[in-house]
Amino acid sequence: MATRVDPARVAALKEREDAAFVAARPRSAALWAAGRGVMPNGVPMSWLRTSYDHPPLFIESAAGSRLRDVDGHEYADFNIADMSMFTGYGPAPVVEAVSRQVALGSQYLLPTDDSIWVAGELARRYGLPLWQFTLAATSANTEVIRIARSATGREKVLFFDGKYHGHFDDVLVQLEDGRLVPEEDGLPRDVTARTVIVPFNDLDALERALASHEVALVITEPALTNNVGLLMPDDRFHAGLREVTRRTGTLLAYDETHTQVVGPGGLTSRWGLDPDLVTVGKSIAAGIPLGAYGMTPDVAAVLERPAGRDDDKPQVAVGGTLFGNPLSMAAARAAMGEVLTDEAYAHTRRLGTRLADGLEEVVAAAGLAWTTHRFWPRSGLSFSPALPRTATEAMATLDVPLRRLVRVYLANRGVWDAIVGAGPTCSVAATDEDVDRYLAAFGDLVGELV
Ligand SMILES: Cc1ncc(COP(=O)(O)O)c(C=O)c1O
Repeated sequence: MATRVDPARVAALKEREDAAFVAARPRSAALWAAGRGVMPNGVPMSWLRTSYDHPPLFIESAAGSRLRDVDGHEYADFNIADMSMFTGYGPAPVVEAVSRQVALGSQYLLPTDDSIWVAGELARRYGLPLWQFTLAATSANTEVIRIARSATGREKVLFFDGKYHGHFDDVLVQLEDGRLVPEEDGLPRDVTARTVIVPFNDLDALERALASHEVALVITEPALTNNVGLLMPDDRFHAGLREVTRRTGTLLAYDETHTQVVGPGGLTSRWGLDPDLVTVGKSIAAGIPLGAYGMTPDVAAVLERPAGRDDDKPQVAVGGTLFGNPLSMAAARAAMGEVLTDEAYAHTRRLGTRLADGLEEVVAAAGLAWTTHRFWPRSGLSFSPALPRTATEAMATLDVPLRRLVRVYLANRGVWDAIVGAGPTCSVAATDEDVDRYLAAFGDLVGELV
């Protein structure tokens, strides 16, 4: 069975589909032209242009699982804003709670009782008792690293190859031919000095890296879900990771920003993991900006200020004016209390399984040796006979032109799978009809490819 499809066929289809995409979206094109006069790359987040090789879609509105662009095309959305809208668009309890809170004041720089409910609910879900809030997962991860440095008196942070934890200096470092290099431009020259990267699923490399007791924190997603598609841990990986971090006095944080979609409490709860810290963001407040991190009392001790203390010992560098604001808290309370329920996760898992079954059937019928991900609400494909175990294996099978073709082909048929490598994810609002639409379009593409 083949793993590769003819690159010339991919290129020809891509050219045809790109032309159809542009021709059907004159209003998006006009807005993009106007945007270029006032914003770099014509969009409010200039980096978006490196994600897409077709012109950007401008959006008019969204509801439930459907996104509508300014040219009147409606899409069943399987990326749901990189999972930050896992609740679906505009869930009624969140609309109601946010509307009420914005009228009462969206920001006081003082707490509301919603923060106690939200922290308590995250504690119940993730099993860590104490929580703090930011505006995004990036800033939750930034603070977690600073807290770990303060708690351990060590400087370095260890990541696994293929990771993504947001956009800040410490994490924008990658391995290139065995050497650490800055991932992008504009970072300090010595940005690699405090970073260690080892392959995912390699406990021996981890053991060697932690042996000198210089690492403050290991931070990882429980399964890597970003630049590498999906890397699942080997059976003994998390137990080994916990054992070696404990033995070497290294703190352990799980970043559940993406993996929270597998169920209440993410993979930490599903797999019974035992970290010192957990970070989340994206959909916990239904797309209203909010990041959060949970920790053990031992870790939290570095943040606690004893009553009556008035010395000027420096505090850990945490904070931001809008962090923990009442609007985000009201949204999170409504999202977790009424939308991200056990039943909702069960629904997304059922649809994710249907999607994976359907992808598997299409691929088998075409005689392709591709592997289907099965990750609760999320599915997708590796263009290889088995799921990769490391970033190196994943990169070897990543067919970028084919992935780009998949996106534009699906978009032209009313399916939005914005970050194809991330794998389509069924949101709480997704329906069987959405899954049928995805599978029909994907089946047509594979039919044209082989
Ligand atoms: C695992 C993980 N951590 C952190 C982030 C950063 O999230 P944000 O861009 O919302 O700060 C992302 C974003 O994709 C992510 O996937």
